[in-house]
Amino acid sequence: MSQLPTHSDVIIIGAGAAGLMCAITAGRRGRKVLVLDHANKVGKKILMSGGGRCNFTNMYAEPGNYLSANPHFCKSALSRYTQWDFIGMVAEHGVPYHEKTLGQLFCDNKSQDILDMLLRECDKSEADIRTHCEILAIKTKEDGGFTVSSNQGEVACNSLVIATGGLSIPTMGATGFGYQVATQFGLSLKPRTPGLVPFTLGQSHLDKFAPLVGSAVDINVECNNQSFREALLFTHRGISGPAILQISSYWQPGDTITINWLPNLQLNDFLEQMKRERPKTELRTILGELLTKKWAQVFCEHWIESKPLNQLSGQELQKIADRLHAWQITPAATEGYRTAEVTLGGVDVNELSSKTMEAKKQMGLYFIGEVVDVTGWLGGFNFQWAWASGYAAGEVV
Ligand code: FDA
Repeated sequence: MSQLPTHSDVIIIGAGAAGLMCAITAGRRGRKVLVLDHANKVGKKILMSGGGRCNFTNMYAEPGNYLSANPHFCKSALSRYTQWDFIGMVAEHGVPYHEKTLGQLFCDNKSQDILDMLLRECDKSEADIRTHCEILAIKTKEDGGFTVSSNQGEVACNSLVIATGGLSIPTMGATGFGYQVATQFGLSLKPRTPGLVPFTLGQSHLDKFAPLVGSAVDINVECNNQSFREALLFTHRGISGPAILQISSYWQPGDTITINWLPNLQLNDFLEQMKRERPKTELRTILGELLTKKWAQVFCEHWIESKPLNQLSGQELQKIADRLHAWQITPAATEGYRTAEVTLGGVDVNELSSKTMEAKKQMGLYFIGEVVDVTGWLGGFNFQWAWASGYAAGEVV
């Protein structure tokens, strides 16, 4: 391993999605860039993302797909480096990809294609990337800039970019380092919680749902005035699937979520029609045809009494329909950072310039990517924020 240089124009701490994009952008401008990461290899989250196929952006990405204490903050960066810019780079490198659903773009082959592309670009930009690098201290210099001390030596720089990500999946090298640096420089933080994370349920629900574990249902879910229409998956610990991961970012402990099990149908009208056409058919059979037999069995065993339709009054049918269109359930908790895809909250965006990501209180210090209080929906939005914020800082550092 060669000695670290004594000086670099820019030091980027964190060689993930945001850090690598920042290195590429700054390097293209002729800046001498040093990227330091404590992990044994770079871009681990890129590699594990999208089930190994990296959902690298979303064709419909726009500011409305992001959560932040200041929802306007992300607009500037997202508009200056868009999904089309990233798709352009992917196409230029001949990386094969496809749209899976809802504008989500995935690699045809492996996430490694995206990491290889970024590393080729870093190479062209002559960015110097070091792994196994533990950061010991950051100090400001009297004549401006910073010195960064690490287990591999001390380096001075003019601009320092913090791109160390959030707290999710600690086994992948996630740390609270970026938040510590923000605190060191007097920047405020927004509370951090796991986002895009499965819910756990209490034992009584787990027992009832046990026969459904592993099965999925297309639902609409709502919480705190936000709703998503995607799949729900029953798990051993509770509920997951894209609809649940999405809504988890809007959920606070103790909140109830509302599930519409049949978002495609006016169930009351349908049941009335079935009552006329098939009066002796059991409600359970009809629900089993609409969803699955198992689902109908579980729901009719525990929550809804099944009778032949001609034994259910109009009022009773209406009640059943209302219940299934607005099923209330209160999750016990989330699975936490162990399985969360992202960290909500982070460095308060009011402390940063939305154009450059520079800290207002400390010239030359930048925060990009997930460490910032900007969190995207599931579907490629978080990488798009990493690319866009990395680019915004890379243009000025
Ligand atoms: P990122 O976490 O990528 O990088 C941070 C880097 O900093 C790491 O290399 C880490 O080792 C380093 N670091 C941390 N602490 C350090 C320290 N103290 N010193 C030195 N280095 C340090 N998003 C999406 O849009 N599409 C998708 O398909 C997926 N899929 C997905 C799957 C899974 C399982 C997870 C956990 C997450 C996703 N995401 C996603 C989210 C996405 O991975 C995430 O938002 C970005 O990787 C954030 O990029 P950053 O560069 O900010 O952090």
